[in-house]
Amino acid sequence: MDATQKTFYITTPIYYPSDKLHIGHTYCTVATDAIARYKRLTGYDVLFLTGTDEHGQKIETKAKETGVTPKEFVDRIVEGDKGVKALWQLMNISNDRFIRTTDDYHVAAIQRIFRRMYDKGDIYKGKYVGKYCTPCESFWTESQLVDGKCPDCGRPVTDAEEEAYFFRLSRYAEPVRKLLTETDFLQPQSRVNEMVHNFLDPGLEDLCVSRTSFTWGIPVDFDPGHVVYVWVDALSNYITALGYENDRYDDYAKYWPAVHIVGKEIVRFHSIVWPAMLMSLGELLPKHVFGHGWLVIDGGKMSKSKGNVVDPYMLAERYGVDALRFFLLRTFPFGSDGNFSNELLLNTINNDLANDLGNLLSRSTAMMEKYFDGVIPAQRADGAEDAPFLEVIHGLRDRYAAAMEQFAPHRALEEVFRVIQRANKYIDETAPWVLAKDMEKNGARLAAVLYNLLESCRIVGVLLTPFIPESCEKLFAQLGAAPDVQTWESTAVWGALPAGTSVKKGAALFPRLDLKRELEELEAITEAAKHAAASPAVELEPQSPENVDFDTFCKSDFRAVKVKNCTAVKKSEKLLCFTLDDGTGTDRQILSGIHKYYEPEMLIGKTLLAIVNLPPRKMMGLESCGMLISAVHKVDGQEKLNLVMLDDAIPAGAKMC
Ligand code: MSP
Repeated sequence: MDATQKTFYITTPIYYPSDKLHIGHTYCTVATDAIARYKRLTGYDVLFLTGTDEHGQKIETKAKETGVTPKEFVDRIVEGDKGVKALWQLMNISNDRFIRTTDDYHVAAIQRIFRRMYDKGDIYKGKYVGKYCTPCESFWTESQLVDGKCPDCGRPVTDAEEEAYFFRLSRYAEPVRKLLTETDFLQPQSRVNEMVHNFLDPGLEDLCVSRTSFTWGIPVDFDPGHVVYVWVDALSNYITALGYENDRYDDYAKYWPAVHIVGKEIVRFHSIVWPAMLMSLGELLPKHVFGHGWLVIDGGKMSKSKGNVVDPYMLAERYGVDALRFFLLRTFPFGSDGNFSNELLLNTINNDLANDLGNLLSRSTAMMEKYFDGVIPAQRADGAEDAPFLEVIHGLRDRYAAAMEQFAPHRALEEVFRVIQRANKYIDETAPWVLAKDMEKNGARLAAVLYNLLESCRIVGVLLTPFIPESCEKLFAQLGAAPDVQTWESTAVWGALPAGTSVKKGAALFPRLDLKRELEELEAITEAAKHAAASPAVELEPQSPENVDFDTFCKSDFRAVKVKNCTAVKKSEKLLCFTLDDGTGTDRQILSGIHKYYEPEMLIGKTLLAIVNLPPRKMMGLESCGMLISAVHKVDGQEKLNLVMLDDAIPAGAKMC
């Protein structure tokens, strides 16, 4: 690698592996990939980082519900079949590195980073009293809540109080304000206004940066029992992945600072907390944070419970990776929210890819084959139609580059497609099939027309490479374009495709879709997903692999019992105390830990099933003689319990056999 080559470091957020990733995550990663590929194309030595943010209470809870350890849980989502890494491979993402916050080198580096901020006096021990939003892993003060709910996600918050470490965010309020208001650090501009108005103007409070209420995190090494707040752990990934405070890599000096591409909901962490942490550490600040918009469905958030989460796997497998990549970046202005719909997807594929780009390439290559045996002639004659057409192509590269530099991939694509549409119009204006009627007279003119078309295909092919890399390879193969005419530099040269090149029409890059049929099929897939979301996931205890011999079974004495009285046991949250008629004439007392599921008065008079020959047991000072039988299962990870209730016509004491 050339030592003088300019470097460029770009990152996506590191995603939570709490669930399968969806089209929203794919949108951000594909956009970042296109920018990374563009930078490589223009000659930069690029490092593109993505990864997963694996600690925190949400993951700990989800793992518990699934009955596996947190590490097993995240391993499955990150490395497993249709996992995070597999999705990025499928989507042809060119990341150079993938960080997991459970990687050893990251864990050790975080402990050092935390200690450095502590030694500097920017982290101190205090007491946290406030509100906590578990899904967002965020603490809030009363005044920050919106209608009593989490200001980020709108979900209910819970009371929280714990001894904790705090980061002196307030100390950095002024330099952060300057960074946001006096530089182009945060983009687009609308995000600056949001940050200033919502967070800086009301005043920055110190940030709680350790937790004691759960253990799935990086321990504070000098105070065991505290784990590092997941956002301090997560944000630091951008530097630990380069080797900051660790020996795993040695790229910090070479690549830092970065450009961070993130969704709008985490701009606060990236544009306020992260720069303040870096100021505390005495490090350079990121070059830019770009806060992109959200993909929404029918104007609302995608959610698992609504069953409207769009699956990138299914779409990529159905329509091709490039079609999906292209759709995401062509359709939605990157800084704003966009409404995802199947119609939009199918129409974009048909109109832009199959019609405009596909037709231009197939018509141009087919005519070169038909009229010149597929070999580009040297003899060419200019015509009146050329100048207005070439004028649109002229400057395309600069307009495209300007858009890409401003993180506006949708505008870059708009520029390219303006040229493609103009090229199709040029075909109509020049009517090559009419020229071909008299080759002797018009042969050189026809050669020029077809050359101009192929040359414009070549240039748009280079510029589309960051977006649809595989399709552009096929396009270059059809044009017979050698590697030296696929470069960024070659797009500044009109006429780089040499005479004598062999052109060969190939299969359509993007076959036209039957809109009606595809819409119906996608609709059916969505309905099935909604249905699956509406029918909860039921989990049953696995059946015992061990047999019990019949005699042992017969020793268990199961009887019908009638509830004469039932009360809650004082000082116990769980226990109910039953006075039961078991048919013997003497009351039987059984204690059962089912208060969570039943109020005592609901059960008086019911006929239940009990095993009565278990040895008596004391609970909370009371004797329990036997056990009531219940049915248990889980729904969506939540335990459900039902007492076995018998027909009231069955007399107390009836034996079950
Ligand atoms: N783990 C944190 C990020 C830590 S970065 C140091 C996190 N993870 S996440 O899994 O929730 O991913 C959030 C990011 O995914 C968003 O910021 C955005 O880039 C992308 N998106 C998730 N849903 C999205 C949409 N519906 N639409 C567009 N992008 C979305 O937050």
